[in-house]
Amino acid sequence: TSPIICDCDPGHDDAISLILALSTHALDVKAVTTSAGNQTPDKTLNNALRILTLLQRSDIPVAGGAIKPIARELIIADNVHGESGLDGPALPDPGFDPLQISAVELMAQTLTESETPVILNPTGPLTNIALLLATYPELHEKIEQIVLMGGAAGVGNWTPAAEFNIYVDPEAADIVFKSGIPIVMCGLDVTHEAYIVDEDIARVRAIDNPIAQCVADLLDFFMIYHRDPKWGFKGAPLHDPCTIAYLLKPELFTAQECWVGIETKGEHTQGMTVVDRYQLTGKQPNAKVLFDIDRQGFVDLLVTSLTAYNHL
Ligand code: BDR
Ligand code: CA
Repeated sequence: TSPIICDCDPGHDDAISLILALSTHALDVKAVTTSAGNQTPDKTLNNALRILTLLQRSDIPVAGGAIKPIARELIIADNVHGESGLDGPALPDPGFDPLQISAVELMAQTLTESETPVILNPTGPLTNIALLLATYPELHEKIEQIVLMGGAAGVGNWTPAAEFNIYVDPEAADIVFKSGIPIVMCGLDVTHEAYIVDEDIARVRAIDNPIAQCVADLLDFFMIYHRDPKWGFKGAPLHDPCTIAYLLKPELFTAQECWVGIETKGEHTQGMTVVDRYQLTGKQPNAKVLFDIDRQGFVDLLVTSLTAYNHL
């Protein structure tokens, strides 16, 4: 079982990612930390607590992170995730409190205490992770890999060039991608192939436990934004859960080692991940970039994982 820290900004797909991670003993979630992104930091922290309360996992330490990006003002995605950041399902109020330490301190403590290297799993802007790496260089060796959702080799979803998580805090992303720590980049190239359609939601709805019902409600709400014909999507892309699916079933994905640079200054390209797919720069690869997924296998994994909660 692999120790993992989930640093998230729930967010519908972050919540589903957490639910997946906690559905199996293959992963040992040591801590949940929250970033500002999909909603303001108070709301993403509250949402993480609500999801863990639903899962009856108040044993997992939770801490809130930086309230804004390293060098910029916060941008939120309330157009996607609603006023609460998790609009749709009726969720319980938090049944426990976060720790009175910061996300960075909780991550540092968890890494220090762990006997084996830990996976970092950021699914929001990379602010907390960058601050951790900059503050505790001696802990880099305790990080096995960073499996993140963010970026795109192709087009962006927040600007024509940039994906939301990287766009919100490009300076943080720059620190992370230059860290030398093994990175798996789960960007839009793969997550747009990991889409969910109404028939898939019906399969989730048919699973008779409260967690699956909550996920079905989350998916119904998440669908609304993605139905806009301007996207040309076949369904709603389940971005963040791709990171956990990769950890549980890497054989579902195709990947390529690439050099990835972060655009922090571009006039039209702020937050772009420049992915050197054809080795044009001669630079050493710094990330394993996921490009494709067996969508049916992904949906089946989601259904199996949610069915495991029948025994909760
Ligand atoms: C990313 O942005 C957020 O809205 C989602 O939670 C995901 O992490 C997709 O660009
Ligand atoms: Ca997210």
